[in-house]
Amino acid sequence: MQKRILAAVIFSITIILATLGLISYLRVQDSIERSYGDRLGMSSMVGKYIEHILEENLTRLYDISLSDRVDFTDNDWMPERAALKAAYEYSIFTDGVFMLDQQGSVRLTYPYRESAMVNLLGNPHVSQAVRYRKPVISNVFTEHPSGRKVIYVLVPLRNRSGDVVGAVGGVINPTNSMLSRALQTVQAEVRGNHYIEIIDANEVVVTSDKPARILEHHDHGGILSKMIKARASGVKFCSHGYSQAKPDGLTKDILAFVPLTVAPWGVIFGQSEQNLLMPADQLKTDFVLLAVLFTGTALVFAAGVSRTIVVPLRTLTAAANGIAKGDLTRPVGDVGTDEVGALARSFEVMRERLARSLDSIHQYSTELESRVYERTMQLEDKRRQNELLLKKLISSQEDERKRVARELHDEALQTLSAILMSIEMCRLHPELITPEKVSKIKETVVLVINDMNNVIQNLRPTVLDDLGFEAAVAWILDRNLRDKGIHCELDTRSFVAELLAPQMEIALFRIIQEASSNIARHAGAKNTYVHIRNDQGRINIYIDDDGDGFDTRSALETTFTGRGLGIMGMKERASLMNGRLTVCSTPGAGTMIFCTIPCPREA
Ligand SMILES: Nc1ncnc2c1ncn2[C@@H]1O[C@H](COP(=O)(O)OP(=O)(O)OP(=O)(O)O)[C@@H](O)[C@H]1O
Ligand SMILES: [Mg+2]
Repeated sequence: MQKRILAAVIFSITIILATLGLISYLRVQDSIERSYGDRLGMSSMVGKYIEHILEENLTRLYDISLSDRVDFTDNDWMPERAALKAAYEYSIFTDGVFMLDQQGSVRLTYPYRESAMVNLLGNPHVSQAVRYRKPVISNVFTEHPSGRKVIYVLVPLRNRSGDVVGAVGGVINPTNSMLSRALQTVQAEVRGNHYIEIIDANEVVVTSDKPARILEHHDHGGILSKMIKARASGVKFCSHGYSQAKPDGLTKDILAFVPLTVAPWGVIFGQSEQNLLMPADQLKTDFVLLAVLFTGTALVFAAGVSRTIVVPLRTLTAAANGIAKGDLTRPVGDVGTDEVGALARSFEVMRERLARSLDSIHQYSTELESRVYERTMQLEDKRRQNELLLKKLISSQEDERKRVARELHDEALQTLSAILMSIEMCRLHPELITPEKVSKIKETVVLVINDMNNVIQNLRPTVLDDLGFEAAVAWILDRNLRDKGIHCELDTRSFVAELLAPQMEIALFRIIQEASSNIARHAGAKNTYVHIRNDQGRINIYIDDDGDGFDTRSALETTFTGRGLGIMGMKERASLMNGRLTVCSTPGAGTMIFCTIPCPREA
């Protein structure tokens, strides 16, 4: 993530710097173009100024024709000399003015110079002026035989009649030129490290604001010369101009060049490239420095910011990994107060809650396991009880069958055998039959009937069917308790026997039968109290005795050994009717049995 943040910052900085760089570059280029335009404008202005001076001096020469003083035929040279003198004194022709005829011979000079009285037709400028009868401004050329470097300015010369009779010319000495002073005036007005020069078509400096350069030769491979001929202006780069030379001898100058129209010359506004482009170069350097500074600062800042984000996130990630591996004991830790810190705190709260939940789940599961174990044990007890009950039931049935068989065998069968023997005796000896004997047999039959009744009564309490529940209960209490000398009180005043279903009657009867049997067999009680009542939709039975009582817990353990199942059977019967049976007893303090079952019908 840190790398991604840094990459995003670098990308953003690159975009910003590229945009700023492009805008700056375009502005600088625009500025440079405007500088070129300004310099061309300056060259043009200087050119116009120089042209104005040249035109003024051409006018001086034209004025000689118009002075009406020229006549080569009258042998009077005074008027012509006066005209030349006037032109000389008010012109830039510091090296004199002269007149020549149509054959090119100099006829008159001012100031007078014997050596100048020669034929100049060989001079191409002169021949051009004479032949084509138009004004000519020459390049710098070397005069023979004096060897002077001069410039000729020639215009056609007309006599008083207006006929062209030759030419009048002025000689400009470039090294002593008023033009250079004019340029120095311009230079003084234009500030900056530059130079202004006029060159001729041979790229020789005609005049310059730096007089030392006059008559020097520019070496631009003839480019400026061609531009003068083509009358083209423009900006050119020069590797070896005349600006301040570098130690290696080469400087690179920028020349704004504009050609003149009245002369085959051009104006150079020159400046070293370094000088001109110094602001742009300075801007570039500043931009690079600022870019480096800005990038460095941004990277340091981004690294710091990303670290403040990434370090807490790493802490959070480590904590999350720990939780994922199940380690909920290690706190998330403090990672600050910002958004990540808030997330960490929420995370910590989540961890704590999760740990608590896991603890409680673990606790629940332990509790559940112990309850399952407990319940399993209870079910196991129940299963063993059921098993015992089943065994008891089977053995009870067997016992009952044996008892019935024994009773039938020992009593009814014996008696019937005695009756059969008596009847056989009567058949063999009818003479012995007496009313006493018949009565004896009858009594014996009655005994059999009584025995059979006893057997039947033990198999099923028919008294229940014959007399109803209350009477049956009274009968069993009589039989089990009162007949054995134990006082028994039965209270059924709050009981409505009709509410009982038939199977419930039998179950409750059997419970009372077992309880009373136990009292008779084990309690050693003198008094018993049996209370049956309807109570809020339930049937409640209380059986108390004042006997010896017993330890219910050890009696239950005894039950598990299979020795006594009466109480368990009572509980089982109550449970089958969705009820409950409780035995409360303490050794020496009697026993109380409480049985409650829901009443199926409303009272
Ligand atoms: N009313 C009572 N007073 C004193 N001891 C009693 C009373 N009822 C039960 N007991 C004690 O509880 C034991 C368990 O009684 P339970 O009826 O379950 O078995 P039992 O009477 O011994 O045998 P059976 O299976 O024939 O009923 C008895 O052996 C007896 O010691
Ligand atoms: Mg019993």
